[in-house]
Amino acid sequence: MKKRECLALGRLSLLVVALLLVAATSFAAKVATVEIPVNTEMYATAPAPLAPAQCAQCHNAQFGNLKEKGGKHRFACQDCHKSFHAYNPKKANYDELMPKCASCHTDIHGPANKDCSSCHTNPHTPRVVATTPRLTNSCATCHAEEKQEIVKFPSKHGSFSCDKCHHTKHGYKPSCAECHKPHFQGQEYSTCLKCHPVHRPKQVTYQSTEPAATCGSCHTQIFNKWKATPSRHAKVNCATCHKDKHGYIPQCTECHKAPHPKNILDRFPKCLTCHLDVHDLPAMKK
Ligand code: HEC
Ligand code: HEC
Ligand code: HEC
Ligand code: HEC
Ligand code: HEC
Ligand code: HEC
Ligand code: HEC
Ligand code: HEC
Ligand code: HEC
Ligand code: HEC
Ligand code: HEC
Ligand code: HEC
Repeated sequence: MKKRECLALGRLSLLVVALLLVAATSFAAKVATVEIPVNTEMYATAPAPLAPAQCAQCHNAQFGNLKEKGGKHRFACQDCHKSFHAYNPKKANYDELMPKCASCHTDIHGPANKDCSSCHTNPHTPRVVATTPRLTNSCATCHAEEKQEIVKFPSKHGSFSCDKCHHTKHGYKPSCAECHKPHFQGQEYSTCLKCHPVHRPKQVTYQSTEPAATCGSCHTQIFNKWKATPSRHAKVNCATCHKDKHGYIPQCTECHKAPHPKNILDRFPKCLTCHLDVHDLPAMKK
């Protein structure tokens, strides 16, 4: 054998041994059919929980709702969503995953209103309550006072359901202008409530400063007589004499203490026997 051949043969056998060795070791370590190196560094960190702004990168709508109308629910998502991304159709566990009002709230509107989500339909806009039959049939469960008032003082308003006036959305307060004309042209709608408490509109009360024109819109004759009288009662407002409550008739002596000697008044107990018409006192001779 030549020296060259001998060397070549030696190298070949070395190579074979080496290959066998590699094959043997790799056969012992390899479980998968593919090769993916382990990256321990990647797993050395403890990731911070996602901030709400990061949840928002995918859950735009929920974040947007909270931002615009979240009110006092504008705290971290995870304060409510203790577990999430765990929905599994096979387990049908969606409802179970969702946060429960009762974990943070009591039955704040009483036992008749335990089903929170039927009115607060979106927890991300908690204060928005839709005007559904569920709501409109339960006004009195939360507003007992108004209900009692409307029942205690019968009026035509009592024959409507609450949402005939409180329509569009919860808390809406209508103007009288939606349904009524004023008593006279130019009367401001902002004055109506001063006389008519809306849930008992027939219990009319008013201030002594109420313009005579208001009264005059119905009591035209008296108003015209009073306006034209030369007597000093023309300077006295209707509502100063007929004070506080519609229909009140004053005593003359509320303003005129002992105008005449007692013996005259004993004989003529009614002032109007002589003074005739309170709205148009006969002219006084001096
Ligand atoms: C006050 C508690 C509360 C907070 C805070 C809250 N959620 Fe929710 N979320 C809920 C409840 C309750 C539901 C279940 C609603 C249902 O059953 O209709 C829900 C449902 C969801 C759903 C399911 C789809 C849907 O809209 O019904 C997603 C997604 C969601 N929330 C994401 C978020 C994200 C993102 C944040 C923070 C930016 C967040 N939530 C903050 C209570 C909350
Ligand atoms: C990379 C996008 C992404 C991010 C970030 C993300 N989610 Fe989700 N989330 C989804 C997808 C996709 C679904 C399933 C489809 C769906 O319901 O919209 C889902 C479903 C949900 C659900 C309803 C179903 C379930 O299994 O809980 C809730 C609740 C939820 N995510 C809350 C969160 C909260 C809270 C965060 C932040 C802490 C968050 N998600 C971050 C993509 C994301
Ligand atoms: C993780 C606790 C938590 C959960 C769950 C939760 N809430 Fe709240 N909610 C709060 C807190 C805290 C407030 C603020 C209370 C305060 O300031 O008095 C609040 C306030 C509210 C308000 C008033 C909002 C405002 O802006 O005035 C409503 C309405 C409400 N929650 C309804 C619900 C309903 C309905 C659910 C179930 C769908 C629910 N909440 C679930 C904690 C929670
Ligand atoms: C029948 C409808 C209805 C039901 C059911 C209901 N609510 Fe309400 N809730 C309302 C209305 C209407 C408001 C007033 C909202 C507004 O500010 O206009 C309100 C207000 C609230 C407020 C704010 C109170 C305040 O004074 O600031 C909280 C908190 C609340 N609800 C929680 C709940 C919880 C918790 C449940 C279930 C136990 C629930 N609600 C059930 C209709 C409902
Ligand atoms: C579940 C309880 C609940 C029900 C049901 C409910 N309300 Fe309310 N409502 C409230 C609460 C709580 C407030 C107080 C909110 C506030 O103080 O801002 C309120 C406020 C109001 C206000 C505004 C008060 C003001 O001073 O501005 C009106 C008007 C009103 N409600 C009418 C109604 C009518 C009409 C119904 C039926 C269609 C109804 N409510 C049903 C709880 C309720
Ligand atoms: C004829 C129309 C009308 C009807 C019917 C009506 N309301 Fe009102 N309500 C009003 C007006 C107008 C206001 C505003 C009064 C104000 O600003 O003083 C009001 C105010 C309210 C308020 C706020 C608090 C207050 O007293 O000012 C509540 C709560 C309320 N109404 C509940 C009810 C309920 C409950 C019913 C049914 C039992 C009802 N209302 C029926 C017109 C009506
Ligand atoms: C949604 C419509 C509506 C609104 C808003 C409304 N009313 Fe009325 N009101 C009526 C109707 C309808 C009657 C019955 C009229 C009739 O039979 O001629 C009535 C009757 C009345 C009566 C007579 C009551 C009776 O029993 O004879 C008074 C007073 C009155 N309204 C005052 C007001 C005032 C003040 C306001 C505003 C604070 C107001 N109303 C708001 C519809 C409304
Ligand atoms: C100075 C108080 C006063 C003011 C302000 C006032 N009213 Fe009257 N209103 C009365 C009196 C008094 C009656 C008659 C009550 C009776 O018949 O016993 C009345 C009756 C009514 C009636 C019953 C039907 C009718 O015409 O007899 C309606 C409706 C009415 N008012 C609506 C309104 C409206 C709308 C406003 C605001 C634009 C308003 N009122 C402002 C005192 C007032
Ligand atoms: C919307 C029409 C209307 C307005 C406005 C009105 N009244 Fe009358 N008033 C009447 C009617 C109708 C009666 C008779 C029915 C009754 O006894 O309630 C009456 C009766 C009276 C009576 C007599 C009560 C009795 O016992 O005989 C007085 C006093 C009176 N009104 C004063 C006033 C004064 C003062 C004002 C203005 C602040 C006023 N009225 C505004 C319609 C009105
Ligand atoms: C100085 C006080 C005073 C003033 C001002 C006054 N009244 Fe009278 N009014 C009385 C008295 C007192 C009676 C009762 C008279 C009687 O017993 O005959 C009365 C009776 C009435 C009556 C019921 C009896 C009838 O005559 O129909 C009406 C209505 C009335 N006033 C409306 C008005 C109006 C409207 C005004 C303003 C334009 C007005 N009053 C101004 C004191 C006053
Ligand atoms: C709300 C108060 C008030 C009432 C009630 C009242 N008056 Fe007067 N009266 C006056 C005032 C104010 C004057 C003007 C006094 C002055 O200028 O010094 C007056 C003036 C008079 C005068 C003087 C004559 C004139 O033309 O000025 C007579 C008479 C009179 N009143 C009679 C009566 C009689 C009678 C009654 C009952 C039927 C009555 N008054 C009820 C406030 C009132
Ligand atoms: C017997 C008839 C008579 C009776 C009753 C009567 N008065 Fe007179 N009163 C008069 C005469 C006459 C005068 C004019 C006296 C004068 O010019 O000095 C007068 C004057 C007055 C004056 C104006 C005094 C001034 O200084 O200007 C007042 C105010 C008055 N009366 C109020 C009353 C009151 C109030 C009553 C009932 C308590 C009453 N009167 C009952 C006849 C009467």
